[in-house]
Amino acid sequence: MTQDQLKQAVAQAAVDHILPKLDSKSIVGVGTGSTANFFIDALARHKTEFDGVVASSEATATRLKQHGIPVYDLNSTSELEFYVDGADEADHHLHLIKGGGAALTREKIVAAVARTFVCIADASKRVPVLGAFPLPVEVIPMARSHVARQLVKLGGDPVYRDGVTTDNGNIILDVYSLSITDPVKLEADINAIVGVVTNGLFAARPADLLLLGTENGVETLTRS
Ligand code: A5P
Repeated sequence: MTQDQLKQAVAQAAVDHILPKLDSKSIVGVGTGSTANFFIDALARHKTEFDGVVASSEATATRLKQHGIPVYDLNSTSELEFYVDGADEADHHLHLIKGGGAALTREKIVAAVARTFVCIADASKRVPVLGAFPLPVEVIPMARSHVARQLVKLGGDPVYRDGVTTDNGNIILDVYSLSITDPVKLEADINAIVGVVTNGLFAARPADLLLLGTENGVETLTRS
């Protein structure tokens, strides 16, 4: 199977998982990226079976609207049963690295609100220890050099993501060479640097369920 077929399979598995629990009042949180796009396309076939969605990026909102799915502002919704999104890396605790698509801050906000975070990924995203994928950090532009110096003190090697402005008007530093043995602590330590909006570690609020696309079918992992 190609990587896209694996992504498509987990996207469909996520729809199959959430659909029986949705009703005409349900609002679903939707992530960003190529796997999330397959989820959007699969979800759109059932758009009459729920109320609408909250999007984690402008790109996702555009795709959802193209399908005719109502997109709500998070502030106008009180309950989100599910948030479905991809990841760049996932460990067996369902701690994640996200933000390859620069949407990490809105993704983290929607994940924080949702009761259940369903992560969908192909098998290449499963890792024993997080950190081979450079950790994205969203930074207020004027703090770029200050934050980069602090990240070096934490043992990282930050690289400015050229030409990228986030949906919130900020920049991204991708941090290489981090040894992420304690993702919960590192997430907090990086977020404590003045000028950081947030970082792509989803460890304080990990996924609840990981649907992993493998050659042998979709594996379902819950938090250990
Ligand atoms: C977007 O900012 C990211 O968090 C994505 O969820 C992550 O990069 C996974 O993207 P793909 O599904 O395209 O691999």
